[in-house]
Amino acid sequence: MAFFTHQVCRGFSSSAVRNVVIKNVTIIGGGQMGAGIAQIAASTGHSVTLVDTNEDILKKAVKGIEGNLRRVVKKKFADKPEAGEEFIQKTLQNMSTSTDAGSAAQSSDLVVEAIVENLKVKQDLFGGLDKLAPAHTIFASNTSSLSVTDIASSTNRLDRFGGLHFFNPVPMMKLVEVIATSATSQETFDSLVNFSKKIGKTTVSCKDTPGFIVNRLLVPYIMEAIRMYERGHGSKEDIDIAMKLGCGYPMGPFELSDYVGLDTMKFIMDGWSEANPDNPLFGQSEVVNKLVAEGKWGKKTGEGFYKYK
Ligand code: CAA
Ligand code: NAD
Repeated sequence: MAFFTHQVCRGFSSSAVRNVVIKNVTIIGGGQMGAGIAQIAASTGHSVTLVDTNEDILKKAVKGIEGNLRRVVKKKFADKPEAGEEFIQKTLQNMSTSTDAGSAAQSSDLVVEAIVENLKVKQDLFGGLDKLAPAHTIFASNTSSLSVTDIASSTNRLDRFGGLHFFNPVPMMKLVEVIATSATSQETFDSLVNFSKKIGKTTVSCKDTPGFIVNRLLVPYIMEAIRMYERGHGSKEDIDIAMKLGCGYPMGPFELSDYVGLDTMKFIMDGWSEANPDNPLFGQSEVVNKLVAEGKWGKKTGEGFYKYK
């Protein structure tokens, strides 16, 4: 029953560092989540460094951010195109990119990680950064399903470590789940909440339990839809239509899986099913395993349950 027993209460360990005002932010991972977080942080006046493993990914990320800023501006500045262009240019000026996470972290008040959903990879990243970042720097993970406590255990700044769980697409989704472990200090938690509000989000406070609030409810629902399809009880198209028109959801479960990324969905389910082999809610899906093995990871690779242009 390890699943339900990791961190369920927030402690208030004394911190050497008081409430940190966050100005300089490093975002690690320039994929769909990291790029979105960088976009909103830069557009709200923060100085942002976006980090990934190579320049090509970073170029693609910045191009995507510029495209998404244009979508925002088209609506927000519909009658003021010049002000819209100024907003775009200011936002882009607030951003830089790097392939060196360590040097970026050296001048950051906050480091937010949005890399692959793998505990060891996240631990290695933060363990290394912990030696380089200033004492006051807060670390946060955007993990969907892992224990923040486990990720933080690779560092010596347990009181300055929390979770900031954003939702996809970041510029559009209003929520951030703020996660405190039992070691996260009150100052750190407050700084994370203040930062989230400053970038325009509504926050909810979450315990460090698997999936926090949203994914603990959303992922089993999506997986049950996939199992329904595997049993032949509905086509994926009909299930998607049913949930959109019957429940008012903006996307059906298959569209949403493709949007999240089937690789990420599989990482989540693999972790949860390993920790809870007897819980049918977390059972594996052969269809998802096959699609992931074929490189059909959803919208980001051009094909998942559906095909994309
Ligand atoms: N950036 C900026 N603006 C965007 C945008 C983006 N990435 N995506 C959409 N928009 C804006 C644009 O203004 C867009 O208009 P244009 O196309 O003219 O530019 C407008 O929204 C409408 O967008 P769409 O026509 O593409 O479609 P839509 O009205 O259906 O909205 C959506 C798109 C917001 C993604 C909506 O379909 C939706 O809310 N889907 C559900 C998303 C969801 O559930 N996310 C949570 C996933 S779970 C998760 O994230 C947690 C996890 O750990 C896995
Ligand atoms: P993604 O595959 O789109 O992007 C991940 C990026 O991280 C890639 O560009 C990759 O090159 C980079 N990366 C991997 N290892 C790295 C490292 N060591 N250093 C620097 N960069 C590295 O994935 P995503 O959908 O953006 O998800 C990222 C994280 O956010 C995951 O933990 C995921 O669970 C979480 N998350 C995803 C969603 C979603 O809907 N996709 C929503 C909320 C949270």
